[in-house]
Amino acid sequence: MKFVLYFLCLAVVLLSAGACRTNEAGRPPDFDPQSVERGEVIYADHCAVCHGASLEGEADWKMQNTDGSFRAPPHDASGHTWHHSDTQLIDAIRRGGARLPDDIGGISAMPAYESILTEQEIDAVLDFIKSTWPEEQRRYQWELMLREEP
Ligand code: HEC
Repeated sequence: MKFVLYFLCLAVVLLSAGACRTNEAGRPPDFDPQSVERGEVIYADHCAVCHGASLEGEADWKMQNTDGSFRAPPHDASGHTWHHSDTQLIDAIRRGGARLPDDIGGISAMPAYESILTEQEIDAVLDFIKSTWPEEQRRYQWELMLREEP
């Protein structure tokens, strides 16, 4: 009898773990279409010159320029933007290259946007960038944020 109970419990645990993975509440929230639209314009005006009109980044972006400066990474799925939480990305946009430690091994020309764009505009440009990601990257980045919350 004890064994039967044991297996029954195990089955319940396994089943509920499976249910968690397919939980509908686990989907990233939809974007505000107006924010995405605003963000697209801001991206074209301020970011595309370095990060590329189609978010493709600079050619050979993993290489550094001869003066030691970093190249602008892509913001599409081929880059690493989706490996960072909103907190980190907003910090990167607000403070630009100045956020990086001195011993990072290169120079960043990423401008600081905290006195150029409003908080809302920074959120909008991030919404636009995120709205272009395929489901997998979108979900991964959203789950990072969930883990970051206390
Ligand atoms: C003058 C060129 C330049 C412009 C303009 C520029 N960036 Fe960057 N950006 C860079 C470079 C170079 C890096 C890589 C070094 C670093 O992380 O600071 C970078 C890094 C970043 C990062 C962190 C790396 C990542 O993808 O995870 C984010 C986020 C970012 N940029 C967003 C933006 C946004 C949004 C805009 C427009 C509002 C913008 N950038 C405009 C050059 C630029």
